[in-house]
Amino acid sequence: MQRKALIIGACGQIGIELTLALRQKLGSSSVIASDVKEIVPDLIADGPYEHLSVLDLDRLRQVIVSHQITEVYNMAALLSATSEMNPAFAWELNMNGLLHTLNLAKEGLFQRLFWPSSIAVFGPSTPRIHTPQDTIMDPNSVYGISKLAGERWCEYYAQKHQVDVRSIRYPGLIGYRSAPGGGTTDYAVDIFYKAIESAKYACFLGPQTMLPMMMMEDAIRATIDITEAPSEKIKIRSSYNLAGCSFTPEELAIEIRKHIPNFEITYAPDFRQSLADSWPDSIDDSRARSDWGWAHQYDTRLLVEKMIEEVRKNLSATAI
Ligand SMILES: NC(=O)c1ccc[n+]([C@@H]2O[C@H](COP(=O)([O-])OP(=O)(O)OC[C@H]3O[C@@H](n4cnc5c(N)ncnc54)[C@H](O)[C@@H]3O)[C@@H](O)[C@H]2O)c1
Repeated sequence: MQRKALIIGACGQIGIELTLALRQKLGSSSVIASDVKEIVPDLIADGPYEHLSVLDLDRLRQVIVSHQITEVYNMAALLSATSEMNPAFAWELNMNGLLHTLNLAKEGLFQRLFWPSSIAVFGPSTPRIHTPQDTIMDPNSVYGISKLAGERWCEYYAQKHQVDVRSIRYPGLIGYRSAPGGGTTDYAVDIFYKAIESAKYACFLGPQTMLPMMMMEDAIRATIDITEAPSEKIKIRSSYNLAGCSFTPEELAIEIRKHIPNFEITYAPDFRQSLADSWPDSIDDSRARSDWGWAHQYDTRLLVEKMIEEVRKNLSATAI
């Protein structure tokens, strides 16, 4: 069967990059981008686009049927910081959006579903260092609660209804093609723009806040690899731990100074500090490595090198 992908939330930080990568792989006409946004980002404007809310079940069904979709990537969600400001809507979007795609998969309208979870499923009682795949999960954020509930729904639909759903617990993702959408790890993208523009950055997390992070290229590769893996290799149907590198704002600043020696960082922690404090320092992703062959490529040094190079290009292109 010819693969045809639908990306829901395609105008977001990950959606844009995933759309680009899948169009490269499957051909532009085989990847339908969709989002509630009316204005399509230039980067993905050259291929098919549907203006679509994942909460509109009838229209979602119609888009999936009319394009003969075989795989759905459901990236629509309210992220950690924005979820705290609007808990009821975060629950509505993060839960019902997922359930709509699970139910349409259960009906047999398409074959594979990818849905991302997050390190936010962990909480204050979770072991922080090399957090295991199976461990205490007591999220204390609206976002984390919705992601943990989502994981339970994924496993339930896989077991009870044989839905072929695949999921990854993304760490904080760092990329240069698209802007982050309201998460607690957004500082690790913004810092590069401010470092290059003004050699100064005021960080909303404290200097010692260690968090698991990942270069966007690695995350997109993992997303495509897990979705393409033979079904029997996907032994976890809730969500897989996934790791790239871990660093604190202070360590990131030291690495940036190797490229921009006069870079200065100051710290003004806000409400996002308590979210970050409840999450792991580092992740044990051995199950993803052994089950479907995951391997990260970017460590902190490489990530910083690549971000400085690409953000410099972005800023000089916008200055022209
Ligand atoms: N970016 C990260 O670091 C990170 C980390 C862990 C997990 N995730 C997860 O990955 C997914 C994508 O994250 P992102 O960073 O790209 O988020 P984002 O906020 O940048 O993008 C989300 C996109 O979904 C769209 N959207 C919102 N409501 C919608 C609706 N009703 N119907 C259709 N589209 C809708 C938004 O317009 C936006 O373009 C989310 O599930 C998020 O929880 C992201």
